[in-house]
Amino acid sequence: MRTAAAAAALSLLLAWGCGPKRQSEAKPTMKTQPFGTTSDGQAVELFTLANSNGVEIAITNYGGIITAWKAPGRDGRAADIVLGFDTLDGYLAPHPYFGALVGRYANRIAKGTFTLNGVVYKLARNNGENALHGGIKGFDKAVWKARDVSTAAAAALDLTHTSPDGDEGYPGTLTATVVYSLNNNNELRIDYTATSDKDTVVNLTNHSYFNLAGQGEGDILGHELTLMAGRFTPVDAGLIPTGELRSVENTPFDFRRPTAIGARIDAADEQLKLGGGYDHNFVLDAGGGALSLAARVRDPGSGRVLEVLTTQPGIQLYTGNFLDGTITGKGGKVYRRRYGFCLETQHFPDSPNQPSFPSTVLKPGQTYRSTTVYRTSVAK
Ligand code: GLA
Repeated sequence: MRTAAAAAALSLLLAWGCGPKRQSEAKPTMKTQPFGTTSDGQAVELFTLANSNGVEIAITNYGGIITAWKAPGRDGRAADIVLGFDTLDGYLAPHPYFGALVGRYANRIAKGTFTLNGVVYKLARNNGENALHGGIKGFDKAVWKARDVSTAAAAALDLTHTSPDGDEGYPGTLTATVVYSLNNNNELRIDYTATSDKDTVVNLTNHSYFNLAGQGEGDILGHELTLMAGRFTPVDAGLIPTGELRSVENTPFDFRRPTAIGARIDAADEQLKLGGGYDHNFVLDAGGGALSLAARVRDPGSGRVLEVLTTQPGIQLYTGNFLDGTITGKGGKVYRRRYGFCLETQHFPDSPNQPSFPSTVLKPGQTYRSTTVYRTSVAK
């Protein structure tokens, strides 16, 4: 009896609106504005996705580049947490892939060559003797076709690019689609798909450089990182994996518990010397497939937290070792060594030459799919 009466009273209270508060959430929005013209005369745009918590992410269809990402900190103030430029001209000049979509093959392929079905393919070599991030004119420099595919739950931008057969040496006509969507959970979800008309290899990522204290506000060495990875792929002098999957146990590569990025970055370690810091692929414990938490970064100063979830088997931790103060970015900020970190979700570098690594081969009739989510929040 008592229970029934209590239940009745509770449902009355709920009906009167005294129950748990329903947040009246405004739906995420997207606004479009011109962003300039490329050197070959193509007009490009800037799309700004915004949600009800003050998160605002700007993306241009030139290279699918994330140009700005405003996220509130502990004090409620929003800061722009990605490195980049104020105008398109900044991105048209050489730069180290700030915010860009990377393809056809993110990371390195040894000596710019691989063999598929007995055929030797020669790629553009743009990193010493190796191929890096898709070549000389990779997906980061393409003008993508843009479409607003927003729903009630998320502001969403669909970017599509078709790369012709033989582009930068890769076989097959490859059509890639990347959907960026921002919801009210402060998640930027990136869904990648691709199809090809010939057997080929593909590995797509986003190359954003984060600084959770705000872009240009010092180095990221005090940021605390957790990586869900018990192994990493050690490299040679050209940053090509040796093929070994090495345990992180008792090495500066063990981020399984939250550790400052800078705590061991200058340790006398052969792998850190080769990378000039961290520039390595970690083998995610989840193994790829299901969307799983891969990394968490916390900036103790601002309280901002970034979590990365992915369906990919690997993640490249790059600590901006090559930034050297020669690039001036947004608001006149100078980007010095280690002023940003990248967490590039990916298949392992040089997989086309490493039969024991998860395969990056895509065949006609198949669809390449991967998803990565970057989620921001504030820690107390
Ligand atoms: C990747 C590479 C680095 C560097 C940057 C761009 O993260 O692994 O070695 O080339 O891109 O500068």
